[in-house]
Amino acid sequence: MPERYDAIVLGAGAAGLMCAARAGQRGRRVLILERSETPGRKILISGGGRCNFTNIGAEPVHYLSQNPHFARSALARYTPRDFLDLVERYGIAWHEKTLGQLFCDGSARQILDMLLEECARGGAELRCGEEIAHVDHGDAFTVTTRSGCYSAPALVIATGGPSIPKMGATGFAYDLARQFGLRIVEPRPALVPLTLGGEEVLFREISGVSAPVVAEAGKAHFAEAALFTHRGLSGPAILQASSYWKPGKAVAIDFLPDRGPGWLVERKRTTPQTTARSMLREALSVRLADILAEKLRPMLDPDRDLGNQPDKALRAAGERLSRWEFRPNGTEGFAKAEVTVGGIATTELSSKTMEARKVPGLYAIGEAVDVTGWLGGYNFQWAWASGVAAGEAV
Ligand code: FDA
Repeated sequence: MPERYDAIVLGAGAAGLMCAARAGQRGRRVLILERSETPGRKILISGGGRCNFTNIGAEPVHYLSQNPHFARSALARYTPRDFLDLVERYGIAWHEKTLGQLFCDGSARQILDMLLEECARGGAELRCGEEIAHVDHGDAFTVTTRSGCYSAPALVIATGGPSIPKMGATGFAYDLARQFGLRIVEPRPALVPLTLGGEEVLFREISGVSAPVVAEAGKAHFAEAALFTHRGLSGPAILQASSYWKPGKAVAIDFLPDRGPGWLVERKRTTPQTTARSMLREALSVRLADILAEKLRPMLDPDRDLGNQPDKALRAAGERLSRWEFRPNGTEGFAKAEVTVGGIATTELSSKTMEARKVPGLYAIGEAVDVTGWLGGYNFQWAWASGVAAGEAV
């Protein structure tokens, strides 16, 4: 006979722990089944070990999804302030780093311990090292693992997405969702470095150089740092743009966001005896300035005085610097992706409760769902908010 619970949560990550805590504190008898030997592994490595646990400005516009309105309800009902109140109740010291990103002063372990304590307060039972063999659905959901058999009228899929398989990430959520006839939006790596090939491999020579830029992909643009790497492009601006980037398309970088495209023409009037190279070296690091100067060569001579160059060439060079198009040949894939775009289609779920419309009692939350946040605490906020939405409903 299977052991009976009110709800079984699959996955002891950010969303699953939050959901189990909330459901348990509502008096539900909850079991959490986790495949790894320890819970919350991604929480522990997040934010460089300090966990960027939310973003105080998190709004639906900071999320990608086939239905951009889906996240609205859950995010409105459990806000960054709500999570911050919880953090403060536990006396966890925090600070705002930049752009509304909140981090622990101490360690990400404090966030995980807090969630585990919240689960314990709700009486939720956590079992780690549980490999799920199969899930059956009759009157209730029955989950069979190597070590046992458990059943409940409510089953929550909180097993995340396939980003960073080294951390135990799997596509299990999608397999299970498909078993129940739920549609999956094609998953792809997001918040991931982009790789360069062809002539653009030259930029690999300046691996390690970073610059404040505006990076644009599709209709989105991000004013943050870009970093050249030995494989291509990274840094927060690029990671953000990668979520919007489509294979074959360009990522445009404005290397001089504080100067307009007519900048070099203006400098020709005020300082005609300077060169484009020295102007670039003034604005950017020498290695980046030099590679860009060389790349501008077909348009102008970077070592000739601005006064001796036609306005047209200077304007064209200024425009190029404001909108330098890179054509990445790929990404560094799920192995390096912080999150996954795509997942269980939101059309299959209630935005209020995260319950599957055609399978009453089945819920999906967190990264498993086709809702993906920007870099900067937005993904955890979605995990908390969707976890609470389901935790209130099961
Ligand atoms: P999550 O992946 O956290 O949890 C899923 C759980 O399910 C895991 O414990 C996994 O082992 C388990 N599981 C998988 N398959 C299973 C199976 N078959 N059976 C049972 N259990 C199974 N976000 C943010 O907002 N701020 C930040 O600072 C960071 N930093 C960061 C750094 C790095 C390196 C990464 C990779 C990611 C981040 N993120 C982040 C993103 C954030 O970690 C992510 O959005 C959340 O962890 C998603 O929470 P979930 O609970 O949905 O999945």
